[in-house]
Amino acid sequence: MWMTFYVALLAVLLLQVHAQPGFISIDCGAEAGVNYTDTLGINYVSDANFTNTGVRSTISSEEISRHSQRQLLRLRSFPEGKRNCYKISVTRGSKYLIRTLFLYGNYDVRNMSPQFDLHLGPNLWDTVTIHNASSYQSNEIIHVPLQDFVQICLVNTGNGTPFITAIELRILKNNTYVTESGSLKRYRRYDLGSNRSYRYSVDVYDRFWYVWDKKNWTKLSASIPDNSLIENDYRLGATIMSTAVTPANGSAPLVISWEAENETEEFYMYMHFTEIQVLTTNQTRQFNIRRNGESGWWFQNFSPLYHNVTTLYTPSAISGKVITYSLEMTKNSTLPPIINAIEIYKLKQFHQSETFQEDVDAITSIKSVYGLTRDWEGDPCAPAAYLWDGLNCTYGDNEVPRITTLNLGSSGLSGKINPSISKLTMLENLDLSNNNLSGEVPDFLIQLQHLKILNLEKNNLSGSIPSSLIAKSHEGSLSLSVGQNPNLCESGQCNETKKKNIVTPIVVSICGVLILLIAVAILWICKRKKSKDSVAVNHQNKISQQSTEKDDSFLQHKSQMYSYIDVLQITNNFNRIIGKGGFGTVYLGFIDETPVAVKMLSPSAVHGYQQFQAEVKVLIRVHHKNLTSLIGYCNEGTNKALIYEYMAKGNLREHLSGKYNESPFLSWKERLRVAVDAALGLEYLQNGCKPPIIHRDVKSANILLDGHFQAKLSDFGLSKVVPVDGASHVSTIVAGTFGYLDPHYHSSNRLTQKSDVYSFGVVLLEIITNQSVMAGNEENGHISERVRSMIPTGDIRAIVDSRLEGNFDINSAWKALEIAMACVSPNPNERPMMSVVVIELQESLATELARTEHNNGGDPRYSVAEGSEDLDTEFMPFAR
Ligand SMILES: *[C@@H]1O[C@H](CO)[C@@H](O)[C@H](O)[C@H]1NC(C)=O
Ligand SMILES: *[C@@H]1O[C@H](CO)[C@@H](O)[C@H](O)[C@H]1NC(C)=O
Ligand SMILES: *[C@@H]1O[C@H](CO)[C@@H](O)[C@H](O)[C@H]1NC(C)=O
Ligand SMILES: *[C@@H]1O[C@H](CO)[C@@H](O)[C@H](O)[C@H]1NC(C)=O
Ligand SMILES: *[C@@H]1O[C@H](CO)[C@@H](O)[C@H](O)[C@H]1NC(C)=O
Ligand SMILES: *[C@@H]1O[C@H](CO)[C@@H](O)[C@H](O)[C@H]1NC(C)=O
Ligand SMILES: *[C@@H]1O[C@H](CO)[C@@H](O)[C@H](O)[C@H]1NC(C)=O
Ligand SMILES: *[C@@H]1O[C@H](CO)[C@@H](O)[C@H](O)[C@H]1NC(C)=O
Ligand SMILES: *[C@@H]1O[C@H](CO)[C@@H](O)[C@H](O)[C@H]1NC(C)=O
Ligand SMILES: *[C@@H]1O[C@H](CO)[C@@H](O)[C@H](O)[C@H]1NC(C)=O
Repeated sequence: MWMTFYVALLAVLLLQVHAQPGFISIDCGAEAGVNYTDTLGINYVSDANFTNTGVRSTISSEEISRHSQRQLLRLRSFPEGKRNCYKISVTRGSKYLIRTLFLYGNYDVRNMSPQFDLHLGPNLWDTVTIHNASSYQSNEIIHVPLQDFVQICLVNTGNGTPFITAIELRILKNNTYVTESGSLKRYRRYDLGSNRSYRYSVDVYDRFWYVWDKKNWTKLSASIPDNSLIENDYRLGATIMSTAVTPANGSAPLVISWEAENETEEFYMYMHFTEIQVLTTNQTRQFNIRRNGESGWWFQNFSPLYHNVTTLYTPSAISGKVITYSLEMTKNSTLPPIINAIEIYKLKQFHQSETFQEDVDAITSIKSVYGLTRDWEGDPCAPAAYLWDGLNCTYGDNEVPRITTLNLGSSGLSGKINPSISKLTMLENLDLSNNNLSGEVPDFLIQLQHLKILNLEKNNLSGSIPSSLIAKSHEGSLSLSVGQNPNLCESGQCNETKKKNIVTPIVVSICGVLILLIAVAILWICKRKKSKDSVAVNHQNKISQQSTEKDDSFLQHKSQMYSYIDVLQITNNFNRIIGKGGFGTVYLGFIDETPVAVKMLSPSAVHGYQQFQAEVKVLIRVHHKNLTSLIGYCNEGTNKALIYEYMAKGNLREHLSGKYNESPFLSWKERLRVAVDAALGLEYLQNGCKPPIIHRDVKSANILLDGHFQAKLSDFGLSKVVPVDGASHVSTIVAGTFGYLDPHYHSSNRLTQKSDVYSFGVVLLEIITNQSVMAGNEENGHISERVRSMIPTGDIRAIVDSRLEGNFDINSAWKALEIAMACVSPNPNERPMMSVVVIELQESLATELARTEHNNGGDPRYSVAEGSEDLDTEFMPFAR
């Protein structure tokens, strides 16, 4: 008894395991985890593991009674999203029959048959039009997947909600249904002579066979025992082959013909023959086959073999308005032609390649690791119309798309930076900023050889940045942003604090003496402008390029110029980033124990050797207490560096944004001091230098503060070193920062000193209001527009930064605002000269000082300048 039980159990197991090799049968809309064998003996599973979207539904109750097959009763509809997909694992390179089934069954009780597109991967497979709500319809395609999955997508074309009832995949032998290229869409498949349709298990491949009756055909049938039919690789089986047709009129040809919808359509025809009658010795069945009225025979003197299947086809396609195959008996034949089954396919060329599989695998894994709930469905890159949000890809002609951009900024990512990212080997731009990523900046990012932009800002990353990344960054091949990661320290710096002491002595020995000499020389060459001399004496302090040229001693040149090796030593191998700007990354360095800021310029952004050298020499001579001093430079091939004095207290933008959280600094008085300082620096560039220097990138982030909170304008003159025109990739940064850029420059393309005045006005507005420069939409989002709209209210307290809590002199604030608004006048001619701005700001400061302090320290820098009235001509204050 136990024996019987085991045998029975074994039989069941064998049946289930070996029942349908190569079959994948998915009951769409079935409950997750469902796994059953239907009445045909096919094992169906729920679609829950193949798609993440859609809604499960059941056909209407009256329709249920009409259908016996369980997989037809449920369906999945996709009311949301334009493209929804199933992703099914397959064996790459195998030949699959892929079938989708649709039974509307009025599941949504709307009695509206939808129409939608069916995509196979990135390509349109078919348009599904529901003809009859009560009967199921199917689409089949014979296709060789080039990846180890296929994606079947339903695309909403605006004609109703897409849905699907079942998906079935069957592996075929790959020497069958051969085409020169392309896939085969089922057009017709007939079991000729049969009275009913078949599928599995009559057909081991579960092809759907249909009935085709024509009046002038005679049906033949015979019984062929299963084991007596000699099959070929098409494996049609005894049942399909046991019926056939012949012409009703014995001598007439047997004609199979159909009309193409479009003459450009290409068809493949497969004819399956076997002799089902036992012929006597004096009987012959022999025929020729003519195609499309061609003069020659397509196939000649063919006699089907008894119970031995022959399939006739040609490996090239046929097309035409009407396609006709005519089977005509030969003279020797005593019997009419016979045919048992035919299959007609339309050639479907899929031109759009799927995205490179490793990219797909990587992005899929990234999606799942971070639990992204984006509408990321189907192929990531293709077709381009359905490109996943946050990606960008390359699409060469006939090339496999590759992912080049991954933007997951502000996506709520947490955990570590996932290694799958390194598998996106063509990645050029990676943005993971503004998430909650933790852990280290991984080494594997360096494997991304094409990476040009890496933004890791505003996360919670810790440890040290791999030195390889930093090296790439200072080479200029990588734009690396790592700011606002509180626990992230620079490479090699984490546990070593003494390093700078090792480096500096070496540097000192090389350069120490020279630096001293430069300092002296600079003092001598470029006379300092005393701020209390103010406007009137400016013109006597101009820098003359010509006159100083001769005076430059060889020694000075040498000493201002550093080798790349020097730079490495000064910055201790670039181990501490202190800033990042449009021109490059800024590193902390030490020369003779004096901290310096070393700016590594992106090599692609810099002029040729000669010009760089010439411009930098000019900049080195520009000296003013409100301009950051350029101490030296390095110019070795692509390694171009500028060495500035180190500004210990960061930049104005950071202070305004509250980064330092210091309370006294943000006082109105201190703000005005910074404004006056910056204005003095800019005024010196315009009036104290010959030729005048247009800054082109005045902004709060370029106003730096030294240890005594004295403000200095930085990055001046860089637009000369770094080209503005003809290098679009840097011009947006160099020619100005969005929001600070003179709108008149936009329209006229002419950059003047008044463009810098405009930018300065924007900075002033920031200082006054502490609002962001751009907000909301572009139209009304600019700080000047927002402030302008508030002026008529006359409420200065509503305009000035609320963090000041009204702690300022009203007149002083109005004065500053007037100046700012004049600076941002759309018409450059209405903008004041910087000399006027300086005087007005000093007045504003004096007013505030009078309010706050019994003694204002008598600081001459901030006293009101005399004789400013005559300069007021260009200054048009607004009414208030
Ligand atoms: C479904 O059940 C059968 C029999 O238990 C099992 O062999 C098969 O692996 C299951 N299929 C899936 C997809 O779980
Ligand atoms: C679906 O996935 C779950 C978990 O991943 C697994 O346990 C289950 O066997 C899968 N079911 C089918 C039918 O593949
Ligand atoms: C034929 O299919 C098998 C798997 O079914 C595969 O391993 C083989 O590479 C295929 N042959 C060709 C020529 O594609
Ligand atoms: C729709 O299909 C059902 C079931 O196959 C059939 O009975 C009915 O006649 C069809 N209706 C039309 C309009 O073809
Ligand atoms: C069979 O009938 C069709 C029309 O139904 C006709 O076009 C065709 O020529 C006929 N063929 C023969 C062999 O009589
Ligand atoms: C036939 O197909 C071609 C190519 O797809 C297309 O350009 C043409 O418009 C089609 N003609 C008709 C009548 O549909
Ligand atoms: C064929 O041969 C058989 C005898 O072998 C004979 O009875 C029959 O009449 C012949 N038929 C024809 C068409 O010649
Ligand atoms: C079946 O037909 C093929 C040719 O189509 C032939 O090579 C084979 O020998 C035949 N088999 C038998 C048993 O006659
Ligand atoms: C037709 O029959 C004749 C004589 O019976 C024979 O010589 C010839 O080869 C046959 N033709 C074909 C194509 O079988
Ligand atoms: C993708 O890259 C191309 C070429 O670089 C660019 O033109 C396009 O705007 C980018 N698309 C998106 C969505 O970023």
